[in-house]
Amino acid sequence: MRNVTIDNITDVVINAMSPDIAPRNRQIMTSLIKHLHGFAREVDLTFPEWLEACEFMRRAGDISDDKRNEFILICDILGLEVLVDMQDHRVTDGESESTVLGPFYRENPPVLPKGASIIQKHFDNSQTVRVSGRVLDTAGRPIEGVTIDVWEDAPNGLYEQQDPDQPDYNLRGRFVTDANGEYAFVGIRPEPYPIPYDGAAGELLNYMGHHPWRPGHIHFMLFKDGYQTLISQIFDADTKYLDKDSVFAVKESLIGQMRPAPAGADTELVMDFDFRLKKAVAKTLIAAE
Ligand SMILES: [Fe+2]
Repeated sequence: MRNVTIDNITDVVINAMSPDIAPRNRQIMTSLIKHLHGFAREVDLTFPEWLEACEFMRRAGDISDDKRNEFILICDILGLEVLVDMQDHRVTDGESESTVLGPFYRENPPVLPKGASIIQKHFDNSQTVRVSGRVLDTAGRPIEGVTIDVWEDAPNGLYEQQDPDQPDYNLRGRFVTDANGEYAFVGIRPEPYPIPYDGAAGELLNYMGHHPWRPGHIHFMLFKDGYQTLISQIFDADTKYLDKDSVFAVKESLIGQMRPAPAGADTELVMDFDFRLKKAVAKTLIAAE
């Protein structure tokens, strides 16, 4: 094609794709090219603006490593991670809602017995909370043997891998539901924290006039063979930023109430929260005709 114009460039690029590529590749790239070109036309994007966007993405790549993925943060700020999560985990049978995984999950946390504490280091400004509840199927029957990974930030707003002064795997644990589907652990009241804003994600927040703060929350991942894995968060009902989450992850059904613990309890607060898991879709092999 030698006669590329403002009017035909979109079709020219789409038609340049090989007829041999996978249908999903074609679907994704056709739509991406249309929307990308449409965006550039709509805002009449200038050459310096486009170049600055390329430099921005280069800086995002430069600050990323195996512990930090700046592109996930950028997607969070743009609401893309939560949109994709909602599309990919539509609630159909009354199961618990999912929300974003976030960048701070670590595999293989310490395996702890029911009721154990995930606190390895004391912070003066923290309140302890006993979190407990049941894991049920969508018919309300308890599920035994569900693995539950939990993780949360310390009162200084940092996850342990961001903070050299916290012990390895501090405020992380892996629990398993008992025969009644019950789980319990002791953690601390989670504090609001800013998502990392010292890199390209911070530049984008400034550009958009938005803040980096997240409401206090505890992360959960629940999994058991035969059920759909649930990645979610419980939000403290009394935390700041509940209606202004910088990554748009809050859902009404995921708000938990922390109450003063009864007299004689060994934590200051208690919170009950039940989860419901949906059966996994059976993978059936369909014989080729
Ligand atoms: Fe978090």
